[in-house]
Amino acid sequence: MTFIDIHPGPSQDPAPGSFRHRFHIPPGLRYFDGNSLGLMPNVVAHAVSNAVSREWADGLIRSWNSAGWRTLSQRAGEKIARLVGAEPGQVIACDSTSVNLYKVLVSAVRLRAGRTRIVTDVDSFPTDLYIIDEVARQFGLSVQQVRAADIPSSLDADVAAIVLTHVDYRTAQAHDMAQYNKAAHAAGALMIWDLSHTAGAVPCALDASGADFAVGCGYKYLNGGPGAPGYLYVAHRHQAACDQPLAGWFGHARPFEFLPDYAPASGVDRFQCGTSPVLALTALHAALDAFDGTSMEALHAQSCALTDAFIDGVDTRLARHGFTLASPRSRQQRGSHVSLRHPEGYGVMQALAQRQLIGDFRMPDFMRFGFAPLYNTFEDVEALIDAIEQVMRDASWSSEEHRVRHAFT
Ligand SMILES: Cc1ncc(COP(=O)(O)O)c(C=O)c1O
Repeated sequence: MTFIDIHPGPSQDPAPGSFRHRFHIPPGLRYFDGNSLGLMPNVVAHAVSNAVSREWADGLIRSWNSAGWRTLSQRAGEKIARLVGAEPGQVIACDSTSVNLYKVLVSAVRLRAGRTRIVTDVDSFPTDLYIIDEVARQFGLSVQQVRAADIPSSLDADVAAIVLTHVDYRTAQAHDMAQYNKAAHAAGALMIWDLSHTAGAVPCALDASGADFAVGCGYKYLNGGPGAPGYLYVAHRHQAACDQPLAGWFGHARPFEFLPDYAPASGVDRFQCGTSPVLALTALHAALDAFDGTSMEALHAQSCALTDAFIDGVDTRLARHGFTLASPRSRQQRGSHVSLRHPEGYGVMQALAQRQLIGDFRMPDFMRFGFAPLYNTFEDVEALIDAIEQVMRDASWSSEEHRVRHAFT
């Protein structure tokens, strides 16, 4: 069998801007969608090829032990823990973000039995809202959707849990984790964070800020590949008391005793459910090596410099074409993407894609540009501003072909 074999680059580099060579970047492409699906780190092609052609093809069932398949979820989780400010033993990579939110939210609600309400941001990503509604329906609770800024003043002794996305998926508004954790705890409630647009680009301190639970995606800034497993965080202090609802054999204390009754594993391991998706976890686990030799502080400094440069360009060259900034100007309040609003935003994004500049679009008129600090450069920013200006000057956004809506945006 022959597989592509792209060799990994060196593992240590001096500065964040120099990690670009660790990624496969299609020739001519400028990529601003790392907040949606990250570029492929070169090591992933090698790791997946090895997992298929050696571990699976030759090792077969023996690879659960000999190739470490059984501990991939934990090992990927530990690499993610380093990026989100968590000590070991609290993060595990498994399932999707939606499924993980279900597991931690039910656990939180059970830890706060007797309380009757879940509070969330009205602008949360839809899957979060759907899962919250479903948990509320199953447990006979009510849901209160308010603006993120109004969450602290909405809390009282009826609130069991609060679900908030740390960096808003549309505007990139970043919330002060410590402040929300404090408000939640003052009301006796538990705080659950969605870190999908945070991990790998924006620092956060789950442990130090007193967070209770968190979930997030593996395929955005973590570059784990399309549909990569998500991850979840459960603070040490809650783990032993957590009763998660998807009891499966991979979360059992002694799975290979094949007992008829469920007994949860100790620690965060109990949050696993069924057999691990080994190939997908292999990709995520390898992709996380792209962060070797970096610190979140250095990456965040790079992210802020890139987003600042883009916002400067918007102010000086794009505002006159009707673009408005939908993201915060303050570095402290901004994630790693910048959103612009424009009535013809969809056509503009299509015209940019035709020129090999890829960002994405969110209804009703948000144009999102992700700046991944591991691989985006100031040259990318300059080229993006030039291209948007060009698309407005030649009105290529208005062409008929750019009005066709694709199934996946
Ligand atoms: C904030 C947020 N949460 C959750 C998801 C999706 O979760 P899942 O991986 O379960 O589809 C996304 C996807 O873009 C997201 O932006």
